[in-house]
Order: sequence, then structure tokens, then C-alpha cells
Amino acid sequence: MALKSKHLLGLEGVNREDIQLMLDTAASFKEILERPIKIVPALRGITVANLFFEPSTRTRFSFELAEKRLSADSVSFSKDSSSVRKGETLKDTVRNIEAMRVDLVVIRHSAAGAPHFLARCVDASVINAGDGAHEHPTQALLDMMTLREKYGSLEGLRVVIVGDIAHSRVARSNIWGLNTLGASVAVCGPKTLIPLDVEQLGVDVYVHLDDALEGADVINVLRLQFERQTQGLLPSVREYIRQYCITTERLADAKENLTIMHPGPINRGVEITQEVADGPYSVILDQVTNGVAVRMAALFLLSGGGV
Ligand code: CP
Repeated sequence: MALKSKHLLGLEGVNREDIQLMLDTAASFKEILERPIKIVPALRGITVANLFFEPSTRTRFSFELAEKRLSADSVSFSKDSSSVRKGETLKDTVRNIEAMRVDLVVIRHSAAGAPHFLARCVDASVINAGDGAHEHPTQALLDMMTLREKYGSLEGLRVVIVGDIAHSRVARSNIWGLNTLGASVAVCGPKTLIPLDVEQLGVDVYVHLDDALEGADVINVLRLQFERQTQGLLPSVREYIRQYCITTERLADAKENLTIMHPGPINRGVEITQEVADGPYSVILDQVTNGVAVRMAALFLLSGGGV
């Protein structure tokens, strides 16, 4: 089986079969990560360029590890140590890298749509590793993989995404993916951090956290993205903590099987307390582990591999 698209630019419009295929492939690759020798020759001869125009720990490391685990050749690029510093455009940068016979390009960029633009300029397959506040498809896939491992299926799960929805590419990709797999999605945060017309994406909207959390199976807590907030959208961080920080007290009536997720990096004590982030409901580090398996699956399937 193969994916319908040559690129992975987002989860908007990706059908159920393709999402299931990526999750099934990731599940089969996860076993490799538990072996003493964590390497298979699946991508031998394939070259991947990792272009990170924005900072990253989890996404960049997990793509690089995924490439190593599959025996791909890879090169990594940071904006500050490249000719972008000398004024080279995104298109020129990538066309030059492609001229060195690269098969796959992984890109993180602060501009929404940058991966889509690249996909029109180059022959290589493009994977979006996060574009502005638009999409972060591999993050949503690893979130869904983590939930599928715990619950078996996402059908009917009530997932509440809390926090800075307006600036969150993680929220957008999760909404598309979770809806496609039959979960029920709600978003909750201050009105100033909830995009207008978000209901049109098929979510319920809450401003009061306690109302949103009623009956939740999963709480996906988002980072407050101070770097993308250009105006004072919050009265104060202290006020945000008072209303939206996920604390043990707030979870007093939670379901026994509740799951707490966070894509990272965490502002501890702002979005979520230490106790909850490291507590029994948390799957935050499982998400990180699954990130490698999901990125192995995306690279493998887009390089023409099939299962
Ligand atoms: N979740 C996520 O994208 O983390 P990084 O910014 O560290 O890659």
C-alpha cells in the first residue's frame, strides 16, 4: 500500500486510510526501537535533508534518529549556519540542496505555507515539520499513535485541547486527524487565543476549563506561544495560570483512565503543573518515543516504501 500524496504537508484532507496506514507502519517500526541494534536497511540509498528554520528539539532529533534507524543518508541545516544568513531565498536554498540529489526534504519554517511552496518548486518529497501556526502533521500522528496504543481506537474518544489554540499548528493538525478517526474534539482557552470560526473545523468551543473537562478522556495541553503573540492577548500570565493551568485539583473528578498530553516544550507551572506533567495520567514521554516511530513511517512511505 502507498500514500495517496507524494508529500506530507498537513492532515487537512488526508483520508482515514492514509492516516491508518501511517499509524500501522509506525507501530511496526516501533519494535525496531526496542532492539539492541536499532537499525534496518529500509532507506539505504535514500538521502534526506532536514531544514530547520526554527528551533526544535523533539522534532529535529526524532527525524534525525528516524533517518539513522532506517539507514538513510541525511544532512541537517540550521538557518543561522547557512547561506540564508547571506540573504539566500528559501527557493534557492532548497533547489541547491536538491541539486545534490536529495530525495526527501523535511522542513520547519515560521511561515505558514512554506512547505507547500517548496513542494511546488522541487521534485523531492516534502514533509512539513511545523509551518508557523498552520500544521504539524507528524506531531498529530504521534499523538494519535499514543492514544491508539492506550485505547485501541480513537472512535468516540473525547479529546479536549487546552490553551493557545490560535497560534497552535499542533491543535490544527490534531483537529483534522482526530476528527477523521472519529474522536470528538473540543478546544478551550481564553477568547483571545481561540481563532474565529474554529467551530467550522468540527470542534466544540469552551472558555471555562471546568466545563470543557467534564467527561474528557484526553487533555492535550498546549504551550503558550509567547514568540508568536504580537499583541497583549492575555491580561497576565498569572491570570492565565489561575484559569487554565492543569492542576491536580482541577482533575479531581477526572476519569480513571484519563490521558494528559503535551507536545512540548512545556512551560511548567504555566500550562500544567509539575505534578500533573510527571504524574500517572501523563503520556508526555511516550509521545516523544512515538515521534521517532511516526517519522520513520512518514519517511519510509514517502520514499516509495510500502507495507
Ligand atoms: N513538539 C515539538 O514540535 O517540539 P520541538 O519544537 O522541540 O520540535
